[in-house]
Parts: sequence; structure tokens; C-alpha cells
Amino acid sequence: MRNGPVTVFDKEGNLIRGQIDMPPQYLRGWVEFYKLKFKVTPDVLIPRPETELLVDEVLNWVSANPKIKYPLKDHRDQVKDHYSIIDVGTGSGCIATSIAKNLKRRCHIMAIDISKAALDIAQENLKKHRVSEVFLLECDLLSTLSPLTKSGSNRPDIIVTNLPYIPNHRIDYLDPSVRDFEPRIALQGGPDGFDLYRRLFSEMKEKNLIPKLFIGEIDETQEEIALQEAKKYFPEAKSEVKKDLAKKPRIILIRFTF
Ligand SMILES: C[S@@+](CC[C@H](N)C(=O)[O-])C[C@H]1O[C@@H](n2cnc3c(N)ncnc32)[C@H](O)[C@@H]1O
Repeated sequence: MRNGPVTVFDKEGNLIRGQIDMPPQYLRGWVEFYKLKFKVTPDVLIPRPETELLVDEVLNWVSANPKIKYPLKDHRDQVKDHYSIIDVGTGSGCIATSIAKNLKRRCHIMAIDISKAALDIAQENLKKHRVSEVFLLECDLLSTLSPLTKSGSNRPDIIVTNLPYIPNHRIDYLDPSVRDFEPRIALQGGPDGFDLYRRLFSEMKEKNLIPKLFIGEIDETQEEIALQEAKKYFPEAKSEVKKDLAKKPRIILIRFTF
């Protein structure tokens, strides 16, 4: 750590010891995301405002697709009574919780993280917001999930994710408040930042866990690589990159029409 300790008091007068560069959100212990308050500690990434766009996209897609059909064995279609969503790399649980609190329809959300410490914080946030639709799973991407069953009943409707996407060589140059305090496992994305996305695409393919819609947050420099990799893994799908409010490329949407 670069700086020495400082002493800070919270609103209730409790003493918080921290470092000079420690983000105020960690000192305070909470952050607002999608108009909800989330507990944060240095075990989880501090949710960023641009990530709210992912939640918007999920809610918009559900409004535009009020009926989800899936084929029965006898080739008739059945209308599903809930949406099934997977949030990969849930961290504080901000995306999954915000979806559950704002979706006006029944849903099952599986929120995955490789970090047990992060899942403990997510659990507290789910409890605080009285969310019962979200199930937490400690898992490396989709590795322990079963492949798509013959009936297709475990096909997710949406996979939403904000995986780590910072190229490793940029980590040392990040603002110290990020570099020295936010969990490395939430930041590092391999040599070009896209390693985890490639692995996730590969597992989706391998297990045939292809949703109707994939939504992933990317770095502003990754528009081209994101579109290229999406095309490579899913040539029949339609992909687009959307910009954030600062007009920077921020999310990749992959629509599967099959
Ligand atoms: C950029 S943070 C996003 C956290 C939260 N979803 C958000 O948007 O604020 C990425 C998260 O992915 C998790 N993660 C990293 N590698 C993973 C892996 N191989 N499998 C599952 N989760 C992983 C990290 O622990 C971290 O919580």
C-alpha cells in the first residue's frame, strides 16, 4: 500500500480505519446502484454507474418478450411461467438483485462467482433487499453447470455478465484507489482483457447453454475484439456493441434467434 493509515468516522460515530487512497465507498461500506443500497467491502468490486446499463437491457428485453415459449417433446410449444437468468461474476450481487427487484415478472436468477468472499457479501445484499429469486453459486464460470438437457428446460433466457476485462499490462497504471484496493480477481482479464469472455463463450458452446440474449460489459477499447470473438464462437447470432452515456463502447449484446 502506498499510504499510511488514516482514521475516519462514519455517520454513527463508529471508527473506521483506512488508507488515504481507499475508495470512500469501502470506507462508508455501501454504494448506490440502480437506486438501491449495496454493502461493499474490499472483497467485491465497487459497482459502477455504467453497469446499470446491463440491468436496463435485461428489463427492456423482458418487456419486449412478454411470452417465452419452449418446445415440448411432442413438438407443441409451452409458455414458460418464469424467466431464467444467469449472472456470471456477480460480486456484490448488484446486477442480480437489481433485476430481481425491478422485473415485473417471475424469474429465477443464478448468480455465480468464483470468490466465496464476494458471495458472502452478495448473500448479505440479497437478504437486505429481501430477494428470494436469486440463487448463489460458487463456480468457475459455468464449469459445474449441467449441459443443456434434451427437453431444453434448463436453457437460460439471458446470460448477463460483467466479467473482469482489464488487460493485465494496464493494471499497474490504474488509479491507486482501484489498483491497490479493489480485488484483482475482479479486474484482471488476461493479456488482452478478453480471456474470461473467451472461456465463457467456449463453455456456453460446449454445454450448449445458449441463451436468447447475452449481455456483457466490455472495456471501451474492446468493441472490435468483442464483435470478432462473438462472430467466431457464435457465427449464426447477431451481435452489436452499445455505447454508455459517455458515448464509449460499453456492452456487447449477442442475440440468438435459434
Ligand atoms: C468486474 S467484477 C463484477 C462484479 C459485479 N457483477 C459488478 O458488476 O459490480 C467481476 C466478478 O467476476 C468474478 N470472477 C472472476 N473470475 C471468475 C470466474 N472464473 N468465474 C466466476 N466469477 C469470476 C470476480 O470475483 C468478480 O466478483
